[in-house]
Amino acid sequence: MTKMEIRPHQGAGAEIIDVDLMNLAAEELDAIKQAYADYGLIFFRDQSLDEHGHINLAKKFGSINVNRFFAAHSDYPEIAIVVKEAHQETNIGGDWHTDHSYDLEPAMGSILVAKDLPQTGGDTLFVSMYDAFERLSDGLKKTLRGLRAVHSGRHVFGSGQGYDDDTDAASNRISNTDAGDQLVDPTHPVIISHPLSGKEALYINPAFTLQFEGWSAEESAPLLQYLYKQTVPESSVCRFKWQPGSIAFWDNRATWHFAENDYQGLRREMHRITIDGCLLKAS
Ligand code: SIN
Repeated sequence: MTKMEIRPHQGAGAEIIDVDLMNLAAEELDAIKQAYADYGLIFFRDQSLDEHGHINLAKKFGSINVNRFFAAHSDYPEIAIVVKEAHQETNIGGDWHTDHSYDLEPAMGSILVAKDLPQTGGDTLFVSMYDAFERLSDGLKKTLRGLRAVHSGRHVFGSGQGYDDDTDAASNRISNTDAGDQLVDPTHPVIISHPLSGKEALYINPAFTLQFEGWSAEESAPLLQYLYKQTVPESSVCRFKWQPGSIAFWDNRATWHFAENDYQGLRREMHRITIDGCLLKAS
């Protein structure tokens, strides 16, 4: 019988303890899948997951989405390298966002494994988008259920945009701006019925959502700003402090995350595998 234990984390998510991800029993995998569906965010500590183990774990949850923009591991293209070199000033993911909302079928989630950590800083913050939805009034929930929003990644991954700077070009950290320019902006429901849990979640984010469908950007901005503000009250933010062997596995349809950039002059490297998702349905 497994000793595995699931402990809710302060703010959002749950930490799963007493499990070895390189040697998962079938019943442990079932319990991890259930925790992932329930919490939308799970953490592991003290793991020794190598690249094969990382890929094998991801495949138990779905097909791997090979990243179009991030540098890939030299031997394992399925693994994206999320790195900030000591001389670089910007980090990857240093604002509130959920990955891949600029895709028609947004990725389900990502498994992020710590590889090289700064001595201090470099935490990742998370919030639950179920909780963000629940905090809204009944009237606003009803209005939002009828809306869709336009998302885009062109202003982030396109040429001359956020990551297209000299230090990125030199390190090849983010590339393929041509593909960034060619991204076609999808719309998604603002309130989704979560594909795994069936619960309602708020599905917009500051990095990739442009405006409500049928509204101008100017008309959309005040409501979007209100929703963003009420999503991240301090009491609802989960701060994950990385240690060697730490892993975070989030669901993009149930959470936002934010990588702190408070370790200037130090190096941080993470390995990320992203798993394919599906078309999102309104609640
Ligand atoms: C990301 O946004 O995927 C990066 C998160 C992190 O490096 O903590």
